[in-house]
Amino acid sequence: MFNRSTVILGTGSYAPERILTNEVLSRMVDTSDEWILTRSGIRERRIAGPDEATSDLAVHAARRALRNAHVPPSEIDLLVVATVTADYPMPSAACIVQHKLGVPESAACFDVNAACSGFIYGLDTACAMVGSGRYNKALLVGAEKLSSVVNWQDRTTCMLFGDGAGAAVVGASDRPGIGLIGTKLGSLGKEDTDLLYIPAGGSRTPTTPETLARGDQYIKMKGKKVFKLAVRVMEEAARDILEQHGVAAHQIGLVIPHQANLRIIDALAQYLELPADRFYVNVDRYGNTSAASIPIALDEARRAGRIKQGDLTLLVAFGAGLTYGSALIRW
Ligand code: ACO
Repeated sequence: MFNRSTVILGTGSYAPERILTNEVLSRMVDTSDEWILTRSGIRERRIAGPDEATSDLAVHAARRALRNAHVPPSEIDLLVVATVTADYPMPSAACIVQHKLGVPESAACFDVNAACSGFIYGLDTACAMVGSGRYNKALLVGAEKLSSVVNWQDRTTCMLFGDGAGAAVVGASDRPGIGLIGTKLGSLGKEDTDLLYIPAGGSRTPTTPETLARGDQYIKMKGKKVFKLAVRVMEEAARDILEQHGVAAHQIGLVIPHQANLRIIDALAQYLELPADRFYVNVDRYGNTSAASIPIALDEARRAGRIKQGDLTLLVAFGAGLTYGSALIRW
């Protein structure tokens, strides 16, 4: 697929210290631990401190990934941050991360906005650029401070989201058949934008006192419709990539799905006819961390010994847009 094989050389992740449990949340809005747990599988989420921005979370995860890969920042010539909560509308979070890490000036640095599918979109981009031979080592980070765009008075959304970051270092390999085998990306841009979006703060509706009074700086979501579409596109993204590469579901060692809702993951498990233990799940501890969700899970799974050399791993995600994506990796 690419000119040369591309592999993940190392991973790292970071979650802010503060834990917000369902129990504490149920004292902030009219909800309960039981409701949140049965509807979403979430028990708690991490919340970044007031002085911590997305790039700060990203830097922690990136340092861990670089250490794990035994790659110094000076060797990075491509830095991609997948996020919908960059520190500023401009510059990109990637440029801030570059500076904090000491990545060379000659490195290409930019953000990818594909919401919760951002890490898979970023992985495809990084692997294509490294695979082309024009870049040698990429640092890919998925990082979010979703607590900054969540309305903490809206019980229908606030219990779902959390903060965190995960990172991977991508390099070239001379071992054919190893590394990123393929990806499948797509987007249901035809669906209504207001399914899942932040109404104000962009060029269509710049922030004004009126938009602030309406709370339009926060995430709005039609949860039921998003749920149904999510199940559909996750299944399609998984099926398409398996078919494309002639892989049967039972050959997958571990599926790392976007951690949005345990019921969506369960539906995917049923569809693929795979047992629950073939799926990495940490949504109970972090909630939905959007672009950080898959790289945090990937890093935890590697550190827990859930991924061995020779294994096939399937990543699969959906997000606002609605974007979706899947990736097959051979270790
Ligand atoms: N506590 C108690 N009751 C609640 C809460 C809450 N936190 N939230 C909603 N309710 C109520 C509703 O008001 C509704 O009451 P009503 O029947 O009197 O009107 C009732 O519970 C049922 O609400 P639904 O929205 O129908 O609940 P549903 O079973 O669909 O679950 C959920 C809601 C968990 C949000 C689900 O729809 C979901 O997970 N959707 C997908 C969301 C998702 O994955 N989003 C992330 C996208 S990725 C990205 O890019 C950020």
